Amino acid sequence: MPIEWLERERQLHLYNDRMSYIMRVLGSGTLAHLYFGPRLATGRDYAHFVRNSYVARFNRVLDPVALELPTAGSGDFRVPGLTVRHADGSTVLDLVYRSHEIHPGKPPLDGLPSTYVEHDAEADTVEICLVDGNSSMRVRLLTTIYADRPVVTRSLRVINEGPTDVKLTTAMSAVLDLPDADWHLLQLTGAWGRETHIVDAPLVAGERGVRSQRGTSGHQQNPFLLLHRPATTEAAGEAIGMSLVYSGNFRAEAEVDAYGTVRARVGLDPETVRWHISAGMDLQIPEAVLVWSDEGIGGVSDAYHRLYRERLASGSWRDRPRPVLVNSWEGVYFDFDEDALVEMASAAKELGAELFVLDDGWFGQRDDDTSSLGDWTVDLRKLPSGLPDLVERINELGLLFGIWIEPEMVSPRSRLFELHPEWAVGFPGRPRSEIRNQYVLDMANREVVDYLERVIGSVLSSAPIAYVKWDHNRVITEPYSTSLPAERQDEFFHRYMLGVYDLYSRLTERFPDILFESCAGGGGRNDPGMLAFAPQVWTSDVTDAVERQHIQYGTSLVYPLVAMGAHVSAVPNHQTGRTTPLDTRAAVAFFGNLGYELDPRALDEVELEAVRAQVAWYKEHRELLHHGRFHRLVSPFEGDGNETAWAVVADDRSAALVGWYRTLSRPLPGPKLLRLRGLDPAARYRVRVWPPADDWVVRANESERGGDELMQQGLFLDDHAWESQRRGDFQARIFELDLVP
Ligand code: GLA
Repeated sequence: MPIEWLERERQLHLYNDRMSYIMRVLGSGTLAHLYFGPRLATGRDYAHFVRNSYVARFNRVLDPVALELPTAGSGDFRVPGLTVRHADGSTVLDLVYRSHEIHPGKPPLDGLPSTYVEHDAEADTVEICLVDGNSSMRVRLLTTIYADRPVVTRSLRVINEGPTDVKLTTAMSAVLDLPDADWHLLQLTGAWGRETHIVDAPLVAGERGVRSQRGTSGHQQNPFLLLHRPATTEAAGEAIGMSLVYSGNFRAEAEVDAYGTVRARVGLDPETVRWHISAGMDLQIPEAVLVWSDEGIGGVSDAYHRLYRERLASGSWRDRPRPVLVNSWEGVYFDFDEDALVEMASAAKELGAELFVLDDGWFGQRDDDTSSLGDWTVDLRKLPSGLPDLVERINELGLLFGIWIEPEMVSPRSRLFELHPEWAVGFPGRPRSEIRNQYVLDMANREVVDYLERVIGSVLSSAPIAYVKWDHNRVITEPYSTSLPAERQDEFFHRYMLGVYDLYSRLTERFPDILFESCAGGGGRNDPGMLAFAPQVWTSDVTDAVERQHIQYGTSLVYPLVAMGAHVSAVPNHQTGRTTPLDTRAAVAFFGNLGYELDPRALDEVELEAVRAQVAWYKEHRELLHHGRFHRLVSPFEGDGNETAWAVVADDRSAALVGWYRTLSRPLPGPKLLRLRGLDPAARYRVRVWPPADDWVVRANESERGGDELMQQGLFLDDHAWESQRRGDFQARIFELDLVP
């Protein structure tokens, strides 16, 4: 049983082979956090980890005691985990331990996505009941430890057992108090088109963190933070990840207090998400996933990759090879008819694609982005014989068919808005902001969710649709739901997300064979909450091969390659105007979930040949790319950012694929080596280079080499300067390593 309860010491120790997580009930009844780190011995009393000896003697000042669920108003002055306002206006909440239960497995959360187990032996959970002595507030705190993963998950249910209502004003999914502040905080920050860029800096006194108040997790910040020791690298040293299984307004931050301890917390954004808990009611708070690693930042990522692809993603596509797709968007935008689509699909089939995706523009009268969102009926001007005929023609080519929807939106120019203006988010009488010429539908209103289930359901059942790209192209402004009373308006943002999750649950249950891909103007809602329903994400609207190196590198901190939509598009790139070689675009997109975002009819013979070879190469390596261990080797966020390298190594170390990219060619680069990681040092590997070429890099590397020398000495990237500088800008190479039997 990997959760130990010492009755006399009132200490709970969660452990597996790699790590320990220890909590303890203090004399006052307060639940203290003692430890999160490498495995410690069981059967021992760790009381001395509580560094404030007064607390044990019922002193109420809790600084700097490490706490499991800190509240406000009873002696702790750091950022809180849970705060309320009682009906009498008081805000004191003093939670003390009442009881606990330990059970095998991991329970699902009501109405919210979460990681799961397939067998009870995969994890154990302790459910701790905390009560406030002076009110009827109760908390059910769930902490789960996985047996074979360096992962602890946390969530809580806040229950009002009293006769009067309570306002929940802060609800963090996890709070992690650490005894020293010698940490750096790494966050994933960005904007549209440059999502998940790495920002990494030492902690200093005070608070630092990220949040979203946009109604989605956002392009700007990801619901994630990582703490690492100053000397930690990708491959070695201590690191802790905190990731939130949620897609709406969140807060993730770390505070260094006056005594040099750290409190990290992730949860609902306290400024924009509050909840009126009526007498006798409760609220489930989302799950946070904590990872501890002594194998560096890469170790944290590896744990998230495996957990999120194996026990967060769900449904029939979870373990299946994901189809190589051609998406119509950048190829034809809104300008197509049935024959054009069938011609594109037929060209896509020639390339080896497996899925053809019809993006925006197939419904209502949508010739640009100024109309028709909400009118989910086929535009018979473009597709006169309707979806079933089009899908049949595409299926006959031997391709799956996929479609784009943006269910949560409505255009002011649409039949839906004429009929139901009150379904758009906003306060009646106050102007609504239009963004991308559209409004957001009020997903907090059950009527809207029911309606969308009906209309989207009828689209999806009208033809054999194999894939859905579910978009969300604007942020939420003027938050207000006409379906909620005044005292519940500050629940709007969370209710919106509950509505989205509800719709996703209904549609994924009803259409279990459809592969869902989530999107929000690219990576505006790329988070674990979405991943639970849609096992892949459109990572970014920017497909430029150079920008993508940054985006995919940052995204890989948390999200597995199989979840990362990565497409090759035409040049000059539509977002940056940059022209990069076709094979470089592919060499970046290979390290994700490959697709083509272009009009395949426009490719010339040479390009067709190249793309055919790319698709064939990818299919051959897809299994390894999506299920091997990912290693970040050279960061585009370090140094001058001119180079990026990463690799995927098979779990049995029998094969590896290494991607190396150089943005600008520079004179006299000098000899350069790329050291690999994760290989079997005793094994020999046959090295091949993609794309095939007759040059020095190929000649220098294509041979049999030892795993040890590939890790200690490395691959050879530059010869004498002359030949490499003439290769030009935007170079890419892939090195394929196969074990020599
Ligand atoms: C968003 C998506 C794009 C495309 C367009 C269609 O911007 O990110 O991929 O689907 O919407 O309008």
